[in-house]
Order: sequence, then structure tokens, then C-alpha cells
Amino acid sequence: MNLKLFSAVFTFIVTPLILPAQNHCPVIPQPQQATLGNGQFLLSQRTALVVSDASLKNAALYLQQQMLQQQHIAVAVQPAAKSLNRIILSIDKDFQNEEGYSLSVKPDAIEVSAATPQGVFYGTISLLQLLEQGKQTDEGLLMDCWNIKDAPRYGWRGLMLDESRHFFGMEKVKSILNWMAYYKLNRFHWHLTDEPAWRIEIKNYPKLALIGGIGTHTNPQSPAQFYTQQQIAEIVNYAAERNIVVIPEIDMPGHATAANRAYPEFSGGGSEKHPEFTFNPGKPETYTYLANILREVNALFPSRMIHLGGDEVSFGNQKWQTNPDIKNLMGQNNLKNVHEVESYFMQRMADTVYSLNAKLLAWDEVANMNFPTEKTIVFWWRHDQPAQLEKTLSKGYEAVICPRLPLYFDFVQDSTHTVGRKWGKGFSPIEDVYRFDINTLPGVNAKTKKQVLGVQANVWTETMVRPDQLDFMLFPRIAALSELGWTSSERKDYEAFSQILKTQFPLYRKEALNFYNPFKN
Ligand code: ACM
Repeated sequence: MNLKLFSAVFTFIVTPLILPAQNHCPVIPQPQQATLGNGQFLLSQRTALVVSDASLKNAALYLQQQMLQQQHIAVAVQPAAKSLNRIILSIDKDFQNEEGYSLSVKPDAIEVSAATPQGVFYGTISLLQLLEQGKQTDEGLLMDCWNIKDAPRYGWRGLMLDESRHFFGMEKVKSILNWMAYYKLNRFHWHLTDEPAWRIEIKNYPKLALIGGIGTHTNPQSPAQFYTQQQIAEIVNYAAERNIVVIPEIDMPGHATAANRAYPEFSGGGSEKHPEFTFNPGKPETYTYLANILREVNALFPSRMIHLGGDEVSFGNQKWQTNPDIKNLMGQNNLKNVHEVESYFMQRMADTVYSLNAKLLAWDEVANMNFPTEKTIVFWWRHDQPAQLEKTLSKGYEAVICPRLPLYFDFVQDSTHTVGRKWGKGFSPIEDVYRFDINTLPGVNAKTKKQVLGVQANVWTETMVRPDQLDFMLFPRIAALSELGWTSSERKDYEAFSQILKTQFPLYRKEALNFYNPFKN
């Protein structure tokens, strides 16, 4: 055999046998570097958890709780010397990336180190996924040895949940946060207000929740459902323990229907299809009202980010043409049309957000307006309007990439599915989510690449009435989102991902998730 042929045959036959085992470890998102080591580690009640830094208390506790829950093995925090073998968590300031980590599993010790507690947390998440692949024996759980060095591709790995259209409640939100942590997602964008209902208690304006909280997209009469401020604080803390930042969205000036039911005096009217859709930008009192609301919201969310929506105002601003307050505002401020009124409104509300020392986040409609770029993040959602992304980036804004196709998870996962959206014939199979290529999007180039903070999937819930319907849309696409946000293009491999994902389905079943299985075998 000549050398060239030998080499081709070698590559063809031998590489697939060796490389996948070496290169792809059974963790989602796939780490940047992973090598299978020799031997095995035995996790048992005699394993010690050694924590070298007080800042790692939370990561250690989470690891203990998850090992107990997943493997029924209780591991105690102990001094190193006493143990049979050890899991050591430590801070290593030399690590470059603040979410990166190294995880070394050897027969006598597991070491997780990182520059920050977040990094260590992610190292322990990878460890928990590897433990899922372990083998139960009489002595304990035997797991393979691995050497992993890892860091995320993007700092923003988000999931948005719309709880205005249907309300899922504390338990489901906590479960979603658990899964987000499992997949190293770190931003929970909470869409709390919209046409059907207002879902957050505001002490200054109690009717927002008590009246605005009545109804859902499918049942306008259902009793009020909302989160109290105490519950919001509980969710924010729960998320923080999982390194997830929670960002509230208070949508304005459109999508304000539920708020307007509670306080009609601030309504700017709507259209036949979307009645009472807007706040009234012509009334000075509207700005005081909304500023008071945002002040309470800001105090509840330590993210220092408030999403003001700003989308689809034209759905219901017809009355703005004739409203005397708005006509007056236009005259006084030389505003030529309703678009300029919308910009005026957003400018004033942006100033309120900035005055709270928070960043303004909004949908890509605001790319048409001019805000301080260092304090503003634009969410590109209109996949059919790539120019909005180009504009966002060329103006210098930071961007979160969340186009309907393929990142709206209310689109069906399979062409035969009937509950959920389609765009013409377009929908969002898991493979499209996985293979979505951010670097080839219009406007993304060497100069603007840094402005792309990351990716986000948005779960709008018109078609999701019950939690099991939400599961069906979220799982397993959430795993593809995870790898899209975390893993570099060079490390991604859809076939390997699919194989690893299938090994996680038993855990989905154990947790009674009503997931969709996109694989034929
Ligand atoms: C949106 O889907 N209206 C942001």
C-alpha cells in the first residue's frame, strides 16, 4: 500500500475509532479541550469534598446536593488528610476566563479549579454530567478519568420565558433554572408583562397584579396569577446560586394592555385587533407612573439591567394620531409623526433606566434610535430583517442574537407537529438551533464581533398552556442552545452532540420531562 493510500485508509478507519472517544467527552456543552485519562475514580460516602476558599461554599453545597439527588451519595466537606479520595475545589487566579475552569479526574482525586466561583461552579456541573455516565458498584460510583480545560465562547447564554401569556409559577421556573445551570446558561430574561396579563407585584400600584394579573392568552377570565415581590426575590436568589442573572422585561410603550386594564388613565389606546395596547406618551403622568414602577423593579433585580421591550408598537398606536395629549406633545416637541413620538417616549424611559444606574435592554426596534451604546443592549429578533442587526452593530450597540428562526422556541421542532408556530414552511428543528452560524450573519465582522454578547432562545407561550407543553418545546433544544452559546465552532460536531444528548434522555425521563425525541433511533 502506498503511503498516501495508507494514510487515507488510516484516517478513514482508525480516526473515527479513536478521536471521538478522545475528543468528545459526554458533557453538554462540549468543553473546549477534553482528554480521556487512565483509570477510574470511585465516588462513595468516603470521598471527601475539600474546599480551599470560602468563596466556594455555594459551589460546594450545590455539588453536594446534586450528588445526593442524582447519585444518592452523600459527600461531606472534610479536611483532605482524612479521606480515601478527594474532590478538591480551588481558586486559581491565573485562569484567564472568568467562567472558564479546569477539571481533572484522576483515580485518587478530582480537582476543579478556576479564577472565580462561577468557573468552579461550571467545573462541578461538568463533573455532575460525567458522574451521570458512571457505573454503580457495591463500593460506589465508578467514573472515567478526564482532563478538561474549558471556557465559554459567549458571555451571554440566555433563555427568555414569557409568563404573561401563560403562567407557570415558582416550581416550574425553578426547574427551568436548574436545567439552565445544567447546560451552563447564565441569563434568564423574564417576560413579565404583555397583553394578556401583568405578572409582577408593584406595591405602589397594587391593581397591576391584582387586576392586570387576571387572565391568560387562552382564558381571559382565569384568576389573577402573579409573582409577589418576595417570590421574585426568592427566584433571583435561586438563580444566583446557579450563576444565572435574572433580567426583568416590562414591555412598553406597546404590549401594555394588561397594565391598562388596571390603570386605564395611562392608556394611549390601541387598534381593533389590539385594544388598549399602548401607554400614553402624551401625558406627563405616564412618565411618573412608569418611573415609579421601574424604580421598584430595579430594586428587586440586582442585574442592573431592565428590558423595556419597545417592540411592535405599530400594532396598536393608531389612536396616537388623534389623541389630544399626544397631539399637544408633538406640537411642543416638534415631533413629525408617531415614530418620532415612539422615539421620544423611549428616550425618556431610557433616561429613567440610566438614572437607576441600570442598562437599557430592548428589542431591535430601538436600533433605529440613538442611545448611549455603552449602556444599551439590543436584542435582534426579526430574522427576516437582517438590516436591523447590521444597524445595531454598525451603530456600535452590543447585541444579543435571538432571531425567530431558529431561536424562538414557540416554533415547532418537527414539520409534522401541529401545536406551535411556523413561518411559512419554516420551523426550528434542533439541528438548525445547533448549526446556527453567528459569524456569517449580516453585519458581523472582525470589527463588530466583540459587540455580539451571545445568544438567547425566547419561549413565547401562546401555544403552551401547561408545563408539560412547555417541556415539549424546550427539550431537548435547550441543549443545542447550550452548545451554540458555549462551544467554539471548531469543537462543535452535530453527530457527536446527538450521541451525547441521547445519553441524557434517561435523566429527562427520571425528572418526568415531557421532552420531544428528535432522533429516529
Ligand atoms: C417579539 O417577538 N415581539 C420581540
